[in-house]
Amino acid sequence: MIQGGVPLQGEIAVSGAKNSALPVLAACLLTAEPVVLDRIPPVRDIATMEKLLEHAGARVTVDGERVTVDAGDIRHAEAPYNLVKTMRASSLVLGPLVARCGRARVSVPGGCAIGARPINLHVAGLERLGAVTRQEHGYIEAEAPHGLHGAEVYFDRITVTGTEDLLMAAVLAQGETIIRNAAREPEVVDLAELLIKMGANIEGAGTPVIRVKGVSKLHGAAHAIIPDRIETGTFLIAGAISGGDLLVTGCQPEHLRALLGKLANAGVEICEPTAGALRVRGNGLLKSIDATTEEHPGFATDLQAQFMALMTQAEGSSIIKENIFENRFMHAPELTRMGANIRIEGRQAIVAGPTRLSGAQVIASDLRASASLVLAGLAAQGETLIDRVYHIDRGYYQIEAKLAGAGARIRRTA
Ligand code: EPU
Repeated sequence: MIQGGVPLQGEIAVSGAKNSALPVLAACLLTAEPVVLDRIPPVRDIATMEKLLEHAGARVTVDGERVTVDAGDIRHAEAPYNLVKTMRASSLVLGPLVARCGRARVSVPGGCAIGARPINLHVAGLERLGAVTRQEHGYIEAEAPHGLHGAEVYFDRITVTGTEDLLMAAVLAQGETIIRNAAREPEVVDLAELLIKMGANIEGAGTPVIRVKGVSKLHGAAHAIIPDRIETGTFLIAGAISGGDLLVTGCQPEHLRALLGKLANAGVEICEPTAGALRVRGNGLLKSIDATTEEHPGFATDLQAQFMALMTQAEGSSIIKENIFENRFMHAPELTRMGANIRIEGRQAIVAGPTRLSGAQVIASDLRASASLVLAGLAAQGETLIDRVYHIDRGYYQIEAKLAGAGARIRRTA
């Protein structure tokens, strides 16, 4: 429940990146020695990944934001349906399990609210590395009894977790793997940094071509993951949409240049007073700006819904184009219920503003859609009640406590 109309003031600290934590946890399956990870956000998707590791036989010790994984003994090279159905990123264990055990059985994820999201590219990449795969009874079974071998892999389409999955397989493959048209997301770079600390030989992470020279074994390591760029962006928009003055700390501005550019063009005052901190001031006069989602370093699809909430408060028409997922506008009808003027035409949404938002009962359809409704609630007059807000707990750590700490009148009612 949010009582809108309060400008946010003060400071909010960013947590570690969920989408970095997921692959680095999966990477722990690649070694028999313990790996110590810091800054792991205790959000629901992370708990799911920890359960997947435990199912495989790893020992997972959680101490606040430090997680130690000891995968000395892998008993089940498997990701069961009951876990995969709650989180698509479960497919991240496919590459490491085949590389370490020579086989894996991973439930095929179904579609989700934002699109079909197949994993055909992960599987095709593993086949290039010599795995024999088949799909049966809703599971992908992959086998490479004599180990994987290096190969050239060209991704037909840029895929973030596909790149990560293949990178984790390639580090233990015999010979050289070249991944072309690789994702350049900071989370891919973070994963590569951990793998290098574990003894892997990787060049080019963060560019479209990643070269990996396989090694026979990896060892334990310690690694603190990067700050969450999507959480950072969400808080910056919270500062702007509420007309507040907010310092977002513990972030990495380099990772969200596309959003920072958009905010500046929209007239939001934003500066970097010290390294790793961004100050945002909403002065109430916003201009409409178009945005098209793209792979990194383009404008992130994971910030599209939040940006749309902001554009409802801007003067003029904003065209927001979604290029990554086919069905990621589920927040638009809910924002419309709050008074926004949004027209969907295929892959684009046309937001006419500014509109006065008024609090209403709305339903969250997925993680980032939930965040956009929270943002709209901060700007709306009166009370907004968001149903199914549990989606937000998959990726935001204590979002209501963080926002309340900056003055928002927000609380969880159930
Ligand atoms: N795709 C295929 N085949 C594949 C893989 C992907 O056709 O084998 C398509 C997808 O359907 C999609 C496009 O390629 O249309 C890009 O998908 P990608 O594989 O890059 O997405 P992902 O790896 O499943 C990650 C993030 C998402 C984020 C996307 C895009 C993680 C754990 N998840 O998903 O994060 O939206 O990249 O940047 O890293 C979120 O955090 O809310 C979230 C959805």
